[in-house]
Amino acid sequence: MIYRKDTTLSTNIDAREAQYRHGDVVVAALQTAGRGQRGHKWCSRKGENLTFSLVWEPKGAVAVAEQFILSEAVALALHATLSRFSIDSRIKWTNDIYVGDLKICGVLIEHILTGGSIERTIVGIGLNVNQKEFDSWVPNPTSMSLLNGVDYRLDDVLGVVCEEIESQYRLIESGRFESIRSSYNQLLYRRNERCQYLIPDGQSVERVEGIVRSVAESGALCVEIDGRLREFLFKEIEFVI
Ligand code: BTN
Repeated sequence: MIYRKDTTLSTNIDAREAQYRHGDVVVAALQTAGRGQRGHKWCSRKGENLTFSLVWEPKGAVAVAEQFILSEAVALALHATLSRFSIDSRIKWTNDIYVGDLKICGVLIEHILTGGSIERTIVGIGLNVNQKEFDSWVPNPTSMSLLNGVDYRLDDVLGVVCEEIESQYRLIESGRFESIRSSYNQLLYRRNERCQYLIPDGQSVERVEGIVRSVAESGALCVEIDGRLREFLFKEIEFVI
């Protein structure tokens, strides 16, 4: 079921309420305290983009140690959605969606764990649909409208995202994790390209050249640096774009 709000703080906060159950979606025209990854804020002009959160209750389908599969499934659903609007995107680890070097969509996934299992997963999605101008501090943004030169009905796009998310969730329920992992890896942004990365090390930051090879089951990014494969967790490495 889709629940609509005109204005709210953050749909990720709303979706935590017990009234929302598996498969429910909370969508807002405006978030006044939209949240991004790494403590950043997420700003989106009222009514121009999709800002919504979906509730998943994976129960026994996904072990806590395998929780990254949920991020991969969401990223694949967003890639498939954009393909249906003729936009060729890539997945920037962990689950930003990029077109070339421009970010079109951000995802904030929050898990609620109880007794060693995933009780609830809140999948927050900010997809830039019709916005054409962004604040100068927003790093390399784009939107579907900027890319394709047309404006979209937000409900049409939301309908496609929900379809694609449902189809990915069916893969999870049927245990087809390997298929999800393999598709995710094939769509990785900058995979097999030699690029610059920043590695924070205490007080300093090291700039290195490396090649993204894959993402491990744990969710760690595997990067070849000086001929050696190294694994990085969230916040341990940053792309230079
Ligand atoms: C990021 O790229 O930093 C993640 C952005 C996630 C934004 C979405 S918008 C809907 C949901 N509610 C929030 O407060 N954040 C997510």
